[in-house]
Amino acid sequence: MHATPWTLPQSHPYLRGFFSPVFDEIDSDCLQIQGELPSDLRGTFIRNSSNPRFAPKGRYHWFDGDGMLHAVEIADGKARYRNRWIRTRAFEAESEAGTSLWTGVTERPDFTNPRGPFKDSANTDVVYHAGKLLTLWWLGGEPYVISLPDLATCGTQHWPGMPTVSAHPKVDMRTGEMMIFDYKPVPPYLRYGVVSSSGDLVHHTSIDLPGPRLQHDMAITENYSLLFDMSLMWDPELLKQGQTRVRFFRDRPSRIGVIPRHGRGDEVRWFSCAPFYMYHTINAWEERSSDGNTRVVLVGCRIENPLADDPENPRSEGLVPTIGFLRLAPRLHRWTLDLSTGLVQEETLDDTFIEFSRMDNRWLGRRCRYGYSGKVPALDTIRFDGIVKHDLHSGHKTQYTFPPGWHGGETTFAPPHGSPQDGADDDGYILTFLEDDTTMTSHLGVFSARDLDRGPVATIALPQRVPTGYHTWWVPAER
Ligand SMILES: [Fe+2]
Repeated sequence: MHATPWTLPQSHPYLRGFFSPVFDEIDSDCLQIQGELPSDLRGTFIRNSSNPRFAPKGRYHWFDGDGMLHAVEIADGKARYRNRWIRTRAFEAESEAGTSLWTGVTERPDFTNPRGPFKDSANTDVVYHAGKLLTLWWLGGEPYVISLPDLATCGTQHWPGMPTVSAHPKVDMRTGEMMIFDYKPVPPYLRYGVVSSSGDLVHHTSIDLPGPRLQHDMAITENYSLLFDMSLMWDPELLKQGQTRVRFFRDRPSRIGVIPRHGRGDEVRWFSCAPFYMYHTINAWEERSSDGNTRVVLVGCRIENPLADDPENPRSEGLVPTIGFLRLAPRLHRWTLDLSTGLVQEETLDDTFIEFSRMDNRWLGRRCRYGYSGKVPALDTIRFDGIVKHDLHSGHKTQYTFPPGWHGGETTFAPPHGSPQDGADDDGYILTFLEDDTTMTSHLGVFSARDLDRGPVATIALPQRVPTGYHTWWVPAER
């Protein structure tokens, strides 16, 4: 498909340069490869992104665009690229109308819109589970089913009891279960569920919160799931008057909720900690302390001062990216929750700003050793100028900085083809889309996870620019 480009306002930081959308859906094989693709790298790397087909109706926010998938299939040292818009109900309705039918999230919601106040674009996350590739939306929407390798949209995944699901479900690769959550501005504010290895919703429950909360991610251990009640929220007093102003309550503790994997909402144990906001967790696991207590450890990208225009932010803070009113200054942080005493220990592990962190998904929910993150430079938009590998055991870090004028995206760990479930979590490859600002061209970078600082072992030149996007998944060829 070739869609008609619309005039992009260059004044909007998230509509110019690498953030500007592409309008062609293409397939291309026999891509030019620099270096050598490892013979044991077999599968498909996929990224979801915001790619508005039509000019926005009112103010634009980067999160408003239609979902578009970009995929690179790798096998036998060769690569094939394909991109497709996700044919959501909203995309089809706007395509038929030939124009945008929804306002974005920075406009006042239009509750008179017969199709609903928000456009469910499925543009945020992508996850492979129980033989299906699913795309998910950050505000909680219908999961869309995508076929491989053609990236065709095959309707929605409906789970009675949880008709909508947030981005960032968590797949336990050992049991095959997927843990999901959803949040809404009306009660129940938070819902949680478990999808079996065969794709059936086998458990769901509502979780009581004092009011609506801004969620984004969750975490799992072998026996528990972790959910959040953070200090960034709609002002409850203004909300009663129908106004949605986000405030950061510095005097209100944030809480981490721990629920048994198949537990009821009233079984959540809440742990109070210093106020924060966090987009993305990295991993969580259980440990046994020397006194025999079980502790849950969570590592993630904690933001100390999450509001861009907050007069209480320290004056010494320099330029950091913002997305709308949110300030992206996340640091690697560890929370240790003692299930016996109810106490929390916290520690910031590194002062480097990092985001879109990932790890070897085979170790999700268990004590992994490494986290792989995008390094956030001092720009006004969220981009990454390198990859940081944190050794979560020793505290050591290594990093690779992209050449001047280059940026990258979320990294994904790809295990070697046929490697065991408990393979070392740096015995594999790190994949990320790379952006060359000088030529406005895109590449897929393939790095050895063990020798990350040596730079890519191979780069694949892509036939069109891949706009800066969100979340990624690696689907091994054997799936
Ligand atoms: Fe996210």
